[in-house]
Amino acid sequence: EANERESMYLVSEFAKSYFHDTLLQSEEGKAIGLTYFKERGFTSETIAKFGLGYSPETWDAFTKEALSKGYQLDYLEKVGLTIVREDGKHFDRFKGRVMFPIQSLSGRNLGFGGRILTNDKKAAKYLNSPESDIYHKSKVLYGIFHAKQAIAKQNNCYLVEGYTDVIQMHQAGIENVVASSGTALTPDQIRLINRLTKNITVLFDGDAAGLRASIRGIDLILEEGMNVKVCTFPDGDDPDSFARKNSYEDVIQYLENNAKDFIQFKASMLMDEAKNDPIKKADLIRDMVVSISKIPDRIKREVYIQECSRIMEISEQVLLNTLAQLIQKDI
Ligand code: CTP
Ligand code: MN
Ligand code: MN
Ligand code: MN
Ligand code: MN
Repeated sequence: EANERESMYLVSEFAKSYFHDTLLQSEEGKAIGLTYFKERGFTSETIAKFGLGYSPETWDAFTKEALSKGYQLDYLEKVGLTIVREDGKHFDRFKGRVMFPIQSLSGRNLGFGGRILTNDKKAAKYLNSPESDIYHKSKVLYGIFHAKQAIAKQNNCYLVEGYTDVIQMHQAGIENVVASSGTALTPDQIRLINRLTKNITVLFDGDAAGLRASIRGIDLILEEGMNVKVCTFPDGDDPDSFARKNSYEDVIQYLENNAKDFIQFKASMLMDEAKNDPIKKADLIRDMVVSISKIPDRIKREVYIQECSRIMEISEQVLLNTLAQLIQKDI
């Protein structure tokens, strides 16, 4: 119901300023949170722009403060900031974490990602707000509010995996960036970008998981009738680490030199191992035709079939037949 959602937005907005103030003003926030962000190379301007924060390492400091300001427990619980136990005791969800507020396209606060400060591999690195009536994870892209103008202006959107990738790229001067934030990319997220541009360049982490997610993302983007390129990073790097190590010019240069159209990307990623293995090569070609079959526009499909035929050295007619079968199956 609309009034209820409005109250949830207000609670979420209050939490955003509470965590931000705690980061900048409390002894604990400065010593732990601010130090952490500075060590990651985030400037004060960046911290302010993204409203970054810190949640204190206590039982219920945030909830107490919110209640004392007149925010109702019911809404604190509904947005997932307060957890109410069966015996009625309540406590803060986020404790001792650096906080990344998540905003909607229009800039309203929907939820948070909270990162632990250690690199302890056993603990979950990020804790996120739960789904709620104001936070539908499958429809949200982290950074969209700060990126929307640049996406429209550049007529391209860089799609990254994480919070810090978006932030570090912004700080490096590249602002047309949004993140799927850990959730597997969804059609709703792609449609959100489609309102601003038809062109997406996928910049996922340079590891096996990133590669797999890129391959899956391609078909989803093509299905929405959009154009997709993929740029991979050296193993172990993500856009955050890469942008931190390199100058603005070098990052731009790298993206220009390495962003490949999806068909070229698939060819290069898989060709190395498939080149001398006819069965693998056949699988790869089939996989390319499956991607092409997702494209709604018939002329584009034909152009990509020609491209695939040229790169993989296989007759266009065979590819067209395969394509026809795949499209037939879909109907
Ligand atoms: N993520 C999550 N929960 C986890 C791990 C990851 O929600 N336990 C999401 C976060 O949005 C994160 C993104 O997936 O930003 C990408 O994950 P990862 O590459 O592991 O983290 P980074 O963003 O690189 O974070 P950092 O640089 O702080 O390690
Ligand atoms: Mn809803
Ligand atoms: Mn990763
Ligand atoms: Mn990463
Ligand atoms: Mn990272």
